Amino acid sequence: MIDHRTLRVALLGAGSVGSQVARLLREHGDDFAERSGARLELAGILVRDLDAPRDVDLPRELLTTDAESLIVGADIVIELMGGIEPARTHILTALNSGADVVTGNKALLAQHGPEIFDAADQVGASVSYEAAVAGAIPIIRPLKDSLAGDRIVRIFGIVNGSTNFILDKMDREGLSAEDAQRLATDLGYLEADPTLDLEGYDAAQKAAILASLAFHTEVSMDDVHREGIESITADMIEGARRAGFVIKLLAICERLADAEGEAISVRVYPALISREHPLATVHGGNNAVFVESEAAGPLMFYGAGAGGVQTASAVLGDVVSAARRHIAGGVGVGESARQSLPTAEIGRISTRYQITLEVSDEQGVLAVIAGILNDGGVSAATVEQTVDDEGTARIVIGTHTAREQALGDTVARLAESDVVVRVASVLRVEGE
Ligand code: HSE
Repeated sequence: MIDHRTLRVALLGAGSVGSQVARLLREHGDDFAERSGARLELAGILVRDLDAPRDVDLPRELLTTDAESLIVGADIVIELMGGIEPARTHILTALNSGADVVTGNKALLAQHGPEIFDAADQVGASVSYEAAVAGAIPIIRPLKDSLAGDRIVRIFGIVNGSTNFILDKMDREGLSAEDAQRLATDLGYLEADPTLDLEGYDAAQKAAILASLAFHTEVSMDDVHREGIESITADMIEGARRAGFVIKLLAICERLADAEGEAISVRVYPALISREHPLATVHGGNNAVFVESEAAGPLMFYGAGAGGVQTASAVLGDVVSAARRHIAGGVGVGESARQSLPTAEIGRISTRYQITLEVSDEQGVLAVIAGILNDGGVSAATVEQTVDDEGTARIVIGTHTAREQALGDTVARLAESDVVVRVASVLRVEGE
């Protein structure tokens, strides 16, 4: 039997992911030793409350509330506490004491990524974070390593499982937004602060991380245009269905090259997707990410976007890599921000739109609306009018590709027009 070197692993946090990481590290110790060339000794687990109930039985002697003693002296520190502080301080302490860091902390990376990567560069340590985006799905390593020889043009996908679950329940089972949200809460799918999911913050954090990697540019939360699913009603879902669409909360990171020069756009919003599109078949809490690059063309990554044991898989992959590096020697390869592309305002993007208007059912209304669209430089591709039992006339306009700025100005003029009772919704159409 090979006499493996022992590496000390400190685990910070024993929540749903952390407790599974601890279990798998202990249960599969021999496998990890074979794969990494090092015996991974779980030196301790930092918890807030020694007596809190946990998903997995963890040996009491491993639990500690003393962060400093656990972190200093560890070779690999796994941070799964979440939140900004004290996670940020613990990670900086770990790096400064020579440990490699594995984290799943998307909020921290989206807000303080450059500080953490700089600290790692200073000491030649590595920071890995496969678990921070799309749970079990390998997406960070493909962007960072596998596609390092290519030029990424666009990333486009579903990176928040709980909002996908809610929208999917509304679409497939006709649930109201409130009932679908209640079900997601009961199943424990939403973050402790549900606004992180519902208002798109969680997806925006992940989009910032993906865009930073894909475009070799520092992208923070402040650079991400964010809209959540709060305004999506059962009526909108039903209207989308009638028109052959499904509504999904999308994260989009793309390169723009227009008259204003080269830039990137990073955005999160609910959008219409054709029911024929592969993303329309992403159900429940699953995630899917499309990556389009110049040479490889389109690639799709699909799977569990959350879940304790699923996300533990991503964490442990990073731990094995960090252990291999420790054994092989050499410095960690840091993040590259050499391109420093500017972030474009949302007004600069171009896509198709679906505008739903409630109008007075009178002669000449369509002509007025057509005039406003024409003046705004927005071209209609489809126009459909319906009148419901209460006599409310609805016009649904599908546009050709338009610039967001022109579309927004045109919608504002429609809203002011005497013939428009209400702009019921404006949704972007993506994936075409
Ligand atoms: N709140 C996240 C989601 C958990 O719903 O996808 C995984 O990051």
